[in-house]
Amino acid sequence: MRATVTAHRDYRIATIDNRIYGAFLEHLGRAIYTGIYEPGHPIANADGMRGDVIELVRALKIPVVRYPGGNFVSAYNWEDGVGPRDKRPTRLDLAWHTSESNAVGIHEFAGWCASVGSEMMLAINLGSRGLDEARNFVEYVNGPVGSYWGDLRKANGRAEPFGVKHWCLGNEMDGPWQVGHKTAHEYGRLANEVAKTLRAFDPNLQLVVCGSSHSDMATYPEWESVVLEHCYDAVDYVSLHMYFANRDKNTAEFLALNAKLDAYITTVASTIEFVRAQKRSKKRIAISFDEWNVWYHSNAQDKEILSGAKGWPHAPPLLEDVYNFEDVLQVGCILNTFIRRSDVVKMACIAQLVNVIAPIMTEPKGKAWRQTIYYPYYFASLFGRGAALRLTVDSPCYDSKVADNVPYVDIAGVHDEEARALTFFAINRHSAETIELEVSLNGFGAATIADCQVMTADNLEAVNTAKAPMNVTPKKGANASVADGRLSAKLAPYSYQLIRLALS
Ligand code: AHR
Repeated sequence: MRATVTAHRDYRIATIDNRIYGAFLEHLGRAIYTGIYEPGHPIANADGMRGDVIELVRALKIPVVRYPGGNFVSAYNWEDGVGPRDKRPTRLDLAWHTSESNAVGIHEFAGWCASVGSEMMLAINLGSRGLDEARNFVEYVNGPVGSYWGDLRKANGRAEPFGVKHWCLGNEMDGPWQVGHKTAHEYGRLANEVAKTLRAFDPNLQLVVCGSSHSDMATYPEWESVVLEHCYDAVDYVSLHMYFANRDKNTAEFLALNAKLDAYITTVASTIEFVRAQKRSKKRIAISFDEWNVWYHSNAQDKEILSGAKGWPHAPPLLEDVYNFEDVLQVGCILNTFIRRSDVVKMACIAQLVNVIAPIMTEPKGKAWRQTIYYPYYFASLFGRGAALRLTVDSPCYDSKVADNVPYVDIAGVHDEEARALTFFAINRHSAETIELEVSLNGFGAATIADCQVMTADNLEAVNTAKAPMNVTPKKGANASVADGRLSAKLAPYSYQLIRLALS
């Protein structure tokens, strides 16, 4: 099989916003406790944060980390997580049927973010709480010393405001499972009032309003339209979430799901435009895709804890999906979609980062390792920065339930002028055929292969574990070459490939 692609340096989609390589950490399962924080661990730092995890996270160059939830945030009192540890209350976490010790709160999380080189993106509880707590939280985090909340922060060890720019106005408020779930009118009005109030404190905050929890919600896409009618001029981003599953063990269908993701983005971007026109507004709102990943491997084992049969355990294993090689292909396709939709998707967060549906796993008191999906996320975050190219792709296709004409080759191209680099991320969705890829390079000048990294596996179900952490890893590829303004590469069946060209 052959696929031909045309790339031209002047045909660009947009400058990629680096925040599309964000991540998410929730007080859920072992994400925080024994994930990033484990004071008794042999390589924990003075703050009790695991050094091995810091290293693995730092390598990902994550611009922004969303925190502390998720469903958890909708019944969370941020005040429980500040002040002397021995005075912090243990609370029942109603979202995940567990206990929350509050040993980690905003101060500890800020310290951890500084150590991994990321900014915080904080979510506000608009489920069980409302406007007053929202403004108090923002004033505590960002307010000056000399005010009630600024002085309290100082008394708790931090005089300097944290200076957090990104704030999520609640989480998945369209979901009946959410504590304090609301109708679109109820939520839209509340979000508008909260946004107005926060802007009175600081007009430059970046505010994210909840869109649909996924595109199968009965209220989608009217939800976005109604919510934005209330708050269009007060917010900056609409938050979308999507999780991917292969419950039927149908790889072709599973790998076609980014067509559904693309349609979801298109619909919400159009709804934003619709409301913008209605309001005769000049303002542009973008999409924050602040939860995405594969999530289904752990569903069965989580049932017991979620049903309450185990009481209220503290930091039990929950949502510990063990990712396989097939998920590498899926995550590669998702990230390619965000690159191709960088015209409207300005932030995105892999959900989540450590232990809970995560690229990084840890053993309590033991090792930390990279799951299979760590690698496509790592490559995209490091090398998917610059201008997203509008590629013309001619690839053999197949029909699926979610879309017809799904190309066997999923490809995204990024031109980083500063680094003089041109990078392609290519996935071959075909089970049996090698695809000969040919990319015609126009306007880039002379190019040579700087790197080629290939991920393949004999078994789609191959995984990395504590005992075999290097089972699925990228290997240096030898099948890419450039001659006469053309890049040629062989894409093995079911493979992920990063091809990086150096431009002179
Ligand atoms: O990431 C796990 C959960 O998925 C989050 O808490 C929630 O927002 C979503 O439903």
